[in-house]
Amino acid sequence: MTVISASAPGKIILFGEHAVVYDRPAIAVPVTQVKATAEIKARTGNLQITAADLGRSFLLDDAPPNDPLATAVRLTLEQLKASPPAATILVRSTIPIASGLGSGAAVSVAIIRALASYLGARLGNEIISDLAFRVEKIHHGTPSGIDNNVVTFCRPVYFRRGRPVQTFQIETPFQLLIADTGILSPTKVTVGDVRRGRQVRPAHYEALFDQIGQVVERARAAIESGQVYRLGALMMRNQALLEQLNVSSPQLETLSQAALAAGAEGAKLSGAGGGGNLIVLVQPEVEAAVSQALLRAGAVNVIATRVGQVIDEVEG
Ligand code: PMV
Repeated sequence: MTVISASAPGKIILFGEHAVVYDRPAIAVPVTQVKATAEIKARTGNLQITAADLGRSFLLDDAPPNDPLATAVRLTLEQLKASPPAATILVRSTIPIASGLGSGAAVSVAIIRALASYLGARLGNEIISDLAFRVEKIHHGTPSGIDNNVVTFCRPVYFRRGRPVQTFQIETPFQLLIADTGILSPTKVTVGDVRRGRQVRPAHYEALFDQIGQVVERARAAIESGQVYRLGALMMRNQALLEQLNVSSPQLETLSQAALAAGAEGAKLSGAGGGGNLIVLVQPEVEAAVSQALLRAGAVNVIATRVGQVIDEVEG
């Protein structure tokens, strides 16, 4: 029996979250240590979607219009002008949900790729990313589009809303720890809080977004020229601006202090904030000590990732 499978990685936003929703640039990189996978095999009967980790299994025909998994399937079928095949789509993911690691986008991209391939079609990355973007809108209303792009292209991206995405080179790889607070924080909630804040104090918020945009430009220049030593201070600056946007949390700040006390060069939240993950820049010689400090300070999980290392395609 034919079994088709495809995968997509997690992601972190290195610099620029939230401001990117308001047309400032942001930088994101894939995290291939975690991934979403969609596996498709023939069955007798109508198309069934099984989300193993969520304990859900349902027929496409029974799914409500706003179900994200069913929407990824429907949009792909519409794009390919195809009817639903008699098959089961089994979705699995090791990417924690609602924690800033791009789980929603990765699940969509895995489904879109696997289904297109099962139907004997090949979709270009621009189209895959665009379909995943349309699913992202269900998750949080006004996505910037950065998640679907970085997860689809599986490359470091410099992203600005409404402009073609730019992939770019990392001159000197650097080591990050990704520490999970264990606190679920749906993107929709913090994005909504920022939107309301901006409505009340537009000039203040626009000034903060501008300053975040400047940090992003400096960070890109440092990353492209191999001046990794500049990134710690830029992360701290970005985090301070995110705190002024009120999207940090006591747990993120406790983890950050513990990491810095153990020798990290910089730390900031990544993604929506409010909980989710903290990213921490470390030199190899302090990595183990910082990782232990993060766990002692309450992190429920710590992932180590080398940013800029040649990436194995996650696409399966
Ligand atoms: O928490 P995540 O992984 O969905 O990232 C959200 C990033 C934001 O900038 C807060 C929102 C967006 O659409 O870019």
